[in-house]
Amino acid sequence: MPTSLVDNFGRRVNYLRLSVTDRCDFRCVYCMAEDMTFAPKAEVLSLEELYQVARAFTELGVEKIRLTGGEPLIRNNIMSLVGRLGSLPGLRQLALTTNGSQLQRLAPQLRERGVRRVNISLDSLNPRKFRHLTRHGNLDQVIAGIDAAVAAGFEQVKINAVILRGRNEDEVVDLVRFARERAIDISFIEEMPLGLIDEHDRALTFCSSAELRQQLDPVFELQALGDPQGSGGPTRYFAMPDSPTRVGFISPHSENFCHLCNRVRLTVEGRLLLCLGNEHSVDLRAVLRAPDYQLEHLKHAIAAAMAIKPERHYFDNREEPQILRFMNATGG
Ligand code: GTP
Ligand code: 5AD
Ligand code: SF4
Repeated sequence: MPTSLVDNFGRRVNYLRLSVTDRCDFRCVYCMAEDMTFAPKAEVLSLEELYQVARAFTELGVEKIRLTGGEPLIRNNIMSLVGRLGSLPGLRQLALTTNGSQLQRLAPQLRERGVRRVNISLDSLNPRKFRHLTRHGNLDQVIAGIDAAVAAGFEQVKINAVILRGRNEDEVVDLVRFARERAIDISFIEEMPLGLIDEHDRALTFCSSAELRQQLDPVFELQALGDPQGSGGPTRYFAMPDSPTRVGFISPHSENFCHLCNRVRLTVEGRLLLCLGNEHSVDLRAVLRAPDYQLEHLKHAIAAAMAIKPERHYFDNREEPQILRFMNATGG
């Protein structure tokens, strides 16, 4: 059995994005349709099954797990899983991506149970626009959640903002100011063509990172940082001369970062997705639910899956999404 995971293109996979639910208390317009069907309970991995997967991955050399969704913090009993993952030997970094709605209440407990980094979505500082973009979200609640996360003392708190032309591209300077006031990082994300959203035409709302930089450069004097964490992540970070805040850009359309990819994803139904922008996957739930299940079987299936990790995604700006699964089912 290998002790590390390497794909056919020589990329080492050391990062698992683990989706713990496809449900969410928001319905962000770029992520979901208004009317969504979620996975039936019987098809969703149990907390024990999720733990088994995390354990198998860490035994195969994975050092970072990010809990995603849907909204991870609305999964029943999620704190018990967080506690177990927080004490997994070999796991160097437990991280969470959340919409912030439950953070005011849960931030201290998450920190205590070993979560080190928290990414929180915030697309607008205007309550009316925020409600429009999230359909159900409450801006004050999310800002209180962000402030609770800052107060809880995580190693890193980062804001994620998906920018859509005509909706919130006029807010990027204010969003950077918001992050600077709290000395936290912020990433701007180009919208990706996942799922048949029914609210807007993605070809019309697309807004490139280059355009955002043109707005931000004269105000904040952004200086390119390369990949300071050596994380192999999709974010390109910039520093500012007068603040610790870093400004990141996630640009799947305008800048392909697949050659550095170090991650795989597990959907809530136990499908191991080898790439966000492709359908190549392996059914780990079948392994978990086989009558003779053993952790070693899971590790074998995961190691074998590396052979089908695709070289890259082929997102472009076509109107039709290339991938019909929604982002909430994908784990971001
Ligand atoms: P790190 O763990 O620091 O790399 O965080 P992150 O910024 O990648 O994670 P987060 O969950 O905050 O996701 C931010 C955005 O990046 C989301 O829109 C994700 O879908 C996107 N993203 C994350 N990983 C990938 C990837 O491998 N490919 C692409 N195209 N997008 C990704
Ligand atoms: N394109 C880009 N980012 C998206 N997210 C959700 N849907 C999309 C999409 N279609 C972002 C959320 C969150 C992260 C997990 O994924 O805003 O920050
Ligand atoms: Fe929920 Fe996040 Fe999707 Fe918004 S982007 S609907 S908060 S899963």
